[in-house]
Amino acid sequence: IDNGLARTPQMGWSTWNFFACNINETVIKETADALISTGLASLGYTYVNIDDCWSRSTRNLKGEMIPDPKTFPSGIKALADYVHSKGLKLGVYSDAGIFTCQVRPGSLFQEKNDAELWASWGVDYLKYDNCYNLGLPPQKRYPPMRDALNDTGRTIFYALCEWGIDDPAEWAGKIGNSWRTTDDINDTWISMTTIADINNKWASYAGPGGWNDPDMLEVGNGGMNYHDPFSKQFLHSDNKFVMQPFFCEIACWFKWCMSAPLIIGCDVRNITADTLKILSNKEVIAVDQDPLGVQGRRVYASGPDGCQQVWAGPLSRNRLAMVLWNRCSKAATITANWSAIGLEPSISVSMRDLWKHEVVSENTVGSFSARVNAHGCEMYILTPRRSTRSSI
Ligand code: DGJ
Repeated sequence: IDNGLARTPQMGWSTWNFFACNINETVIKETADALISTGLASLGYTYVNIDDCWSRSTRNLKGEMIPDPKTFPSGIKALADYVHSKGLKLGVYSDAGIFTCQVRPGSLFQEKNDAELWASWGVDYLKYDNCYNLGLPPQKRYPPMRDALNDTGRTIFYALCEWGIDDPAEWAGKIGNSWRTTDDINDTWISMTTIADINNKWASYAGPGGWNDPDMLEVGNGGMNYHDPFSKQFLHSDNKFVMQPFFCEIACWFKWCMSAPLIIGCDVRNITADTLKILSNKEVIAVDQDPLGVQGRRVYASGPDGCQQVWAGPLSRNRLAMVLWNRCSKAATITANWSAIGLEPSISVSMRDLWKHEVVSENTVGSFSARVNAHGCEMYILTPRRSTRSSI
């Protein structure tokens, strides 16, 4: 929607993937501090979002939501003040139904009062879930909260969480700043690849003001890290992690980084150097946040079950972002033909590898091939040389 927000996809952190309901105001404050001290905030990760379970199970006698007195004794306003004092923004969560998924009060039919309360606390972001929705269509349940947020006069990011059930990409652009395209992510390769594919279907609907949301990042939560059979071999003998684009989670993060919200889902207070390095890749973030705002998509697939894939999308200043993603269980050479990625065959480009942070080829014409490891993923920016133009 045109509320001035989300000109590029939102970036920040949310409690859900790591903490679920195990949250409290100390965790939120410490995470805000950690976003600053790690440098993540200055890279753009500025929303500090509290997901389900911040509210008491019942409203007060005035019908207001009350922060859980055990876990948020100082209240949400105090937290908002705290994160604002750090230059960050605060997000809360509610539900377009009568309860949230964890059975806290939902906001269906109470949109106006709830929005006004959050605005009075200084809230900057609302994630709006889909549980206990009485079977009413989302097209009826989500617009009232848009209007209620708008009427508060405070600028509040509106993130729909309808799980992609009613194809929200087709209608949510007039309602929210982002809409989930899928069911919940979990920290596995199959979940990430499935979600990337579903999200890809809706690529043409994304753009400044409203984005497809393939759910929050699992980078740093461990499920696809050292335990993944494909990643072990890339540990040094001294057991140090080698930063190479072979980890499943890196591969998937690259997919996310073609115009998707980047909401970190790990415990930033205890983040490892490896995870930090992944999440801090400035060149990859710049692709995600490119002002052109065109979602990258799968443009070519070959090999068994189409597991050798090329994903691409246009960037500002006539450049292209391209990912070679090997989803097969064996290493493979993946070739991107210019026709597949929307370039005239005669165009010469320089290829910059966003993981190596260097130009790997100054003058590539017609196609580009690279050997990509099993479950590996490489990402490039293609810049046409001066005398040539891209047609995409
Ligand atoms: C379902 C959502 O899809 C999740 O992201 C999370 O918000 C949970 N509900 C919370 O209960």
